[in-house]
Amino acid sequence: MSTLVTGIAELVTNDPSHGEGPSGVVPDAAVVVDGGRVAWVGAMRRAPAADVRVDVDGRAVVPGFVDSHTHLVFGGDRAGEFEARMAGRPYDGGGIASTVADTRAAGDDALSVRLHRLVAEARAQGTTTVEVKSGYGLSVADEARSLRLARTVTTETTFLGAHVVPPDHAGRREQYVDLVTGPMLAACVPHARWVDVFCEPASPHAFDADEARTVLNAGAAAGLGLRVHANQLSAGPGALLAVELGAASADHCTYLTAADVDALAGSETTATLLPGVEFSTRSPYPDARRLLDAGVQVALATDCNPGSCFTTSMPFCIALAVREMAMTPAEAVRAATFGGAKALRRSDIGHLGIGALADLAVVDAPSYRHIAYRPGVPLVRTLELPVRPAGAPGSA
Ligand code: NIG
Ligand code: FE
Repeated sequence: MSTLVTGIAELVTNDPSHGEGPSGVVPDAAVVVDGGRVAWVGAMRRAPAADVRVDVDGRAVVPGFVDSHTHLVFGGDRAGEFEARMAGRPYDGGGIASTVADTRAAGDDALSVRLHRLVAEARAQGTTTVEVKSGYGLSVADEARSLRLARTVTTETTFLGAHVVPPDHAGRREQYVDLVTGPMLAACVPHARWVDVFCEPASPHAFDADEARTVLNAGAAAGLGLRVHANQLSAGPGALLAVELGAASADHCTYLTAADVDALAGSETTATLLPGVEFSTRSPYPDARRLLDAGVQVALATDCNPGSCFTTSMPFCIALAVREMAMTPAEAVRAATFGGAKALRRSDIGHLGIGALADLAVVDAPSYRHIAYRPGVPLVRTLELPVRPAGAPGSA
């Protein structure tokens, strides 16, 4: 069954063959969706016929957001830590241990209900793809459980056993890295597409370059793609390590040297910026302009987690990127869609070219610019397209 979406005042395709600039913007547009994929894109006046018509009545349409960095499987929360931070306490990752305790103590049902609620919350704000990391279990059974639950909401699951050295391994870092790269990895590989590590020598809880390299190499040898929590608290070795090992993404990139920027610019590694973290930890924002001007592929994601940033809102991150990081609205929306897809090495999402998954988000305004222009207003929602009723002619 084909669906013609009409009344699109402004369509962002991220496909320059369809319209103006890298964002491929088409004014007064229509889209045909067939079999869950984009089948036609163009000016409304040239739109072909389709089985069903959906009119968005003068609103903008953008590709659904690709949130390429979240930690949605966890127990408890850390509102008290947030309050203390706002009163001046710095963030160093030490609070992760309390979420590990709460996550281990939680039942599968409680974790699953929380996870599904957060995904629904994200979807209600225009997110159509979400990556979900483990990292609050930090035992063989609890990491495998987190990833098994994460797999119920996405194929983009990431093994983050190397989030911090858990309290039960305090003073035994080497042994913990052996556990992560041995039995924990083996138990998690069946449920994961990616492996990630919190590479941050400035935090006593996280991992240095050698430890991070060991974890990433083990993950790669087991068939996982690579991602790195890099340069969040200091100009550490994470970004260079990500480039050296061909990681899909170096995430945070808050403190980068000129050499880091050069290395990222000449690489296939996306720099994923997480401005909600700087907002929620009251830290300096990453220099997005420097990265964009150097030609680095930039993505925006939420990093939704109970510690450093508890938001599922990609529109909020876009607004921060524009207000605080000097990205244009077009660059920010592109980073939240096309950039996220690059960070996940996906070519079927993050754009609305022919053949892309029909992940459409509607902005309750005539232009995508309003996403940043009207911060905090729930303007964006995913477009639910009609599906053929079960049993109808031609249905599967
Ligand atoms: O991406 N930096 C490491 N991990 C998360 C925060 C986790 C937490 O504080 O619970 C992050 O910011
Ligand atoms: Fe994170």
